[in-house]
Amino acid sequence: ESVCNILAIETSCDETSVAIVQNGKHVLSNLVSSQIETHKAFGGVVPEVASRKHVETITLMIEQAVEQSGLTLDDISAVAVTEGPGLVGALLVGIMAAKSVAFALDKPLIGTHHIAGHIYANNLTANIVYPALALVVSGGHTELVLLEREGQFRLIGSTRDDAVGEAYDKVARALGFPYPGGPYVDRLAMEAESAVELPRAWLEPDSYDFSLSGLKSAVLNVVNQKKMRGEEPMIAEIARGFQESVVEVLVEKAIRAVRAYDVRQLLLCGGVAVNKGLRRTLTERCHHEGIELLIPPFEYCTDNAAMIGAAAYLKWKTGEFSDLRIKGDPSLSL
Ligand code: KG4
Ligand code: ZN
Repeated sequence: ESVCNILAIETSCDETSVAIVQNGKHVLSNLVSSQIETHKAFGGVVPEVASRKHVETITLMIEQAVEQSGLTLDDISAVAVTEGPGLVGALLVGIMAAKSVAFALDKPLIGTHHIAGHIYANNLTANIVYPALALVVSGGHTELVLLEREGQFRLIGSTRDDAVGEAYDKVARALGFPYPGGPYVDRLAMEAESAVELPRAWLEPDSYDFSLSGLKSAVLNVVNQKKMRGEEPMIAEIARGFQESVVEVLVEKAIRAVRAYDVRQLLLCGGVAVNKGLRRTLTERCHHEGIELLIPPFEYCTDNAAMIGAAAYLKWKTGEFSDLRIKGDPSLSL
């Protein structure tokens, strides 16, 4: 009676993922099919191509996720799916698949917020203690979210322009790396012997918002100036300067918010949570300040369906189910 097996589906961007998660904690299977190789040729994610790729793989992945979990379809308690935010066409593929399975099995459908998923990825391998503060850093999001209690989200800061991952990808492109370039910039930054001095966007003294576009432009200016003068581009030093600026502002604002809201834990999440510079600096600062920091393992940082199963379990417990008529909402709020 107390066992809840959620079949979760995530198709909000360029990863098709299906997972079976038991009681919001135990990942029985978590399949991820990345479309990165397909989109690389275009220098970024092409929405129509993403939708088509999701359609091609989703059905087989649902079958395989059930098979790998060791369960049968009869054991599924509910079907969860990312409802937004994301690319609307991509979301719709997952939503249609989820509706079909939920309808066929006569089980509840649970529409889930993508960022709630990233945050609750932290609950898969640890236990979130409230109040908690989440620093969400991904290709589409840069946010500070306060969780006063379970499943309650309050946005206290977000980016006013580019998301962190987006800025990484644009800088990487200027430095000559393929999409998605975040990991290249990270590696180069960690290897560099010195850093090019670049600005920090603190914004108003009391603001928890972020701004990345000025920094990104500063990087592009340095690269272009070097090119025009026919000088060595110093890409490692630029990468390190960029990473230091990004990390310093993210870490300082997160720590300030932890103090201001007196939270018990800081949760790092999203695809950029794998960034070595960010992890190192945040871990050191939290250790020094006596703040408990949770970071999900690598496979639960980047887009995956297990995190959607973890977040959907909260709604399962409160019986907050979705209508079979739900549509994808590209700008769904938390
Ligand atoms: O969360 P995610 O998998 O997808 C979104 O929901 O956006 O994040 C993908 C983003 C990409 O922009 C990618 O370049 C960035 O995360 N990323 C990194 C690193 N690894 C991936 N950015 C900086 N450093 C990394 N090591
Ligand atoms: Zn994501």
